[in-house]
Amino acid sequence: MSELTENNNDKLIIGDDVFVPFLTENVIQNRIKEMADQISQDYKGKIPIFIGVLNGAFIFLSDLIKNISINCEIDFFKLSSYGDSKISSGNVRMLKELNCDVNGRDIIIVEDIVDTGLSIKYLEEIFQTHKPDSMKVCSLLMKPESIKYNVKIDYIGFNIPSKFVIGYGLDYAQKYRNLRSIFVLSE
Ligand code: IMP
Ligand code: MG
Repeated sequence: MSELTENNNDKLIIGDDVFVPFLTENVIQNRIKEMADQISQDYKGKIPIFIGVLNGAFIFLSDLIKNISINCEIDFFKLSSYGDSKISSGNVRMLKELNCDVNGRDIIIVEDIVDTGLSIKYLEEIFQTHKPDSMKVCSLLMKPESIKYNVKIDYIGFNIPSKFVIGYGLDYAQKYRNLRSIFVLSE
């Protein structure tokens, strides 16, 4: 496919895989507004630091904080775990550390999707050593049936089946992050 055209009624055919529309731009944006309202309420009087997990969470984090009505800061952390595959490799590497000092601060880890929970568990362990005042996790998507690690996700946009999804920051071999809506692999 040389050109990427996206129409809500359209399938995306990528090699031998067919992806079908799953969450529309509208549905995603409405849910993000609700999540942002909840977070703004929960952190009233505080200045939380949103820590986006690169690369996937950058679009979600950007739309989320545009809807946050209290003062906040942002930073990014980069992990690598999937390589170019659709299945988790089961190990995580840190590719970029934080730039800010989270000691004594209220931090909210922002993920695009929680699958096995390995990335979140790893991040929580790292950030805990920096002694934040509080730490919560916010993920646009969660696959509850895939969870293997004991993690608590405080803000969840959508619980979804354990199927591979792309778009809105989520990639397949680094591509398709630029789609405005989310597509699911059809089996
Ligand atoms: P976990 O460490 O197994 O929870 O995996 C979380 C990471 O895997 C996410 O931050 C994503 O980058 C990636 N991931 C998990 N499921 C999907 C998917 O369906 N599409 C694209 N990336 C995914
Ligand atoms: Mg990710």
